Amino acid sequence: MFRFVGEQRVQASELALTGPTLRVRIPRSDDAPALFREACDPRVTRWFSWGPYESVSEARDYLERLPGERQRGVQLDLVVEHLQAGPIGISGFSDIARRDRRATIGTWLGHAWWGRGANREVKALMCHLGFELLGLERIGSYTNVAHERSQRALERLGFEREGVLRAYHRHGEQTLDVAVFGLLRSTWERGLLHDLPVVVTGEPPALFVSGAGGASLPPERPIRSSDGG
Ligand SMILES: CC(C)(COP(=O)(O)OP(=O)(O)OC[C@H]1O[C@@H](n2cnc3c(N)ncnc32)[C@H](O)[C@@H]1OP(=O)(O)O)[C@@H](O)C(=O)NCCC(=O)NCCS
Repeated sequence: MFRFVGEQRVQASELALTGPTLRVRIPRSDDAPALFREACDPRVTRWFSWGPYESVSEARDYLERLPGERQRGVQLDLVVEHLQAGPIGISGFSDIARRDRRATIGTWLGHAWWGRGANREVKALMCHLGFELLGLERIGSYTNVAHERSQRALERLGFEREGVLRAYHRHGEQTLDVAVFGLLRSTWERGLLHDLPVVVTGEPPALFVSGAGGASLPPERPIRSSDGG
């Protein structure tokens, strides 16, 4: 069954949040070529433990891992899809702690989409997902202490810099310090991200939802840390 939202159809059962120009939705295997095109650019993956992609099969392998990660409740990565141009990046939640109602967000966008307001719309959609649908009280983000663009982008959207976690990420043989940022529900409710019109279809995977019954659900499993931003 399909519903029409904007100019494209989305499968009614699959989680999707649609804003004025972008949608975040459950990734599909046919997103691989577009994700490869955007993340074969070293500027996009410069601060990550992975990439740049050298072949489309790396994007396919990544997409194939996602359903299992969703089923285990460890990582909720969504494709960022421009309503006309198609997939342009990824935004996701990791470090899901339902007992404490918090998660960590990470985002990457193709270089052509930087500085155009796409990041703001993605974060508005993801905050709606996190605070309204998943019941979070806090969305955190980590970024390399030297990654100035990401830190400015987070602060511009209302995330507060809370400090530095030393030797927190490991990329290859390198141990890295990260700046930690946080956005609380109360700040989000008063901020600019809250005002974006959002159309929601589908349901978030149950294992990511905090709130009623959350604390009595099975214990959280160890998870891999996000690359942040
Ligand atoms: C991190 C990332 C998502 C941030 O998105 P971004 O678009 O680059 O950042 P911003 O939303 O802050 O926008 C950057 C600039 O565009 C400007 N801008 C924002 N919205 C705009 C709009 N609607 N129109 C025009 N300009 C706009 C901002 O004012 C800012 O200008 P400044 O740098 O001169 O101050 C993006 O750079 C990215 O994908 N990077 C690669 C992956 C990565 O490193 N992720 C973070 C890991 S920690």
